[in-house]
Amino acid sequence: MTTQADHELTVNTTHNEDSLQTYISTLRMFILNEIGSGLRDVYSTRVKPGFIKDNGREPKTEHEVRKLMMNDSYCQTWSSMMRSCQEMIWDSIIPSIERAQPNLNKVASELSSKGKGTLHLDPLLEVPGYVKACDIHLMPGNYNTDRGGFDVTQGALYDRGVYVYADGNAGPLGDSIGRSLAKHLKLRFPNFNPSKILDIGCTVGHNLLPFKDLYPESELHAIDVSAPVLRYAHSRSEALGYPLNFHQMNGEHMKFPDNSFDLVFSIITFHETSITAMKNILKECKRVLRPGGMMIHMELPRTKNMDPFDAFYLDWDSYYNNEPFYQSWTSIDLEKAYNTAGFCEEKYFEVVTPDVYVVPEEDFKRAADVDISKEKYHRGRLGEGVHWTGWGSWK
Ligand SMILES: C[S@@+](CC[C@H](N)C(=O)[O-])C[C@H]1O[C@@H](n2cnc3c(N)ncnc32)[C@H](O)[C@@H]1O
Repeated sequence: MTTQADHELTVNTTHNEDSLQTYISTLRMFILNEIGSGLRDVYSTRVKPGFIKDNGREPKTEHEVRKLMMNDSYCQTWSSMMRSCQEMIWDSIIPSIERAQPNLNKVASELSSKGKGTLHLDPLLEVPGYVKACDIHLMPGNYNTDRGGFDVTQGALYDRGVYVYADGNAGPLGDSIGRSLAKHLKLRFPNFNPSKILDIGCTVGHNLLPFKDLYPESELHAIDVSAPVLRYAHSRSEALGYPLNFHQMNGEHMKFPDNSFDLVFSIITFHETSITAMKNILKECKRVLRPGGMMIHMELPRTKNMDPFDAFYLDWDSYYNNEPFYQSWTSIDLEKAYNTAGFCEEKYFEVVTPDVYVVPEEDFKRAADVDISKEKYHRGRLGEGVHWTGWGSWK
């Protein structure tokens, strides 16, 4: 497993904690990839034939497939193990963070106060219900639980959580999606040199850093509604030597003036907002983008043209992993949403992974050092055939 990058905010783990986290990561990958791949056989060899025999037709929707599959003992076992692994991820991380506190907050506060970048918190900002109503992906305390002072606990939990969840495959800095997106844009649009960039729903700022590597002259801003992750994001970026600007702001009502940015992006934010919020954010993207600017959102693929089995598989998290908006995102008519927000169809483009890649530890370099044309480590989102996809548009 790739080692997580070491910096002043890295939470130390004991030998036993480290072993437990590695075990859970590996177990999760085994259940996801090895046991999970058996689901298709179970479906095609016994679940679907049984349905056809009784109904004289194939299941038509992912909902039909879900009902059938969740009655099958193989799928029930797989699903239950996936859920348990997700809970174990957080359980395995929390003790080390509790031990690191209160020193962790102190170190973070010092890094932030001496920082070259900026942190703008808004204590009056109301965290939207769609963020705070449940512990998204079962992360205890969610993004927004604030224990007072310069609390960064939820940021530290998310940072380590992504690492254990992805079995280290997001790279030492957890930024593989940002790296691949930034490199893709750089190669595909070599004359596009944004001077001001905005990341919406940045959490701990993982995926913003590669944009500074590839557009070093640019001024980078990031927003999130949750203060603890923003404090962590700012301190972490300072610890890594990046002068970035973080704002506690709701993407639905940004406080930036019109025409402020050349590039506005988000990475895996929309599947955690309500559809109404997503539409509001798109309108705001249009407003804050300069003419000729670009908007791009990396997300889960949509299920529109998918086989009902694949759609069932993709949307599992919506039902069993506290991802209440997952499925509404994967089934949305995105073109319509972009049009309604004022973007025009001729200016759309798509970025479909395998651009999200995995770089083994020994080959890891900062994005700026990697020659994308020779990039050899291509892989989609872990699991069967699920790729992060980007929907872009020029203003
Ligand atoms: C899955 S995380 C995004 C991960 C992050 N972009 C990355 O690259 O690792 C979703 C984040 O979006 C934030 N968020 C949700 N709704 C938002 C909104 N309306 N405005 C700003 N941030 C929002 C949440 O607080 C959370 O930190």
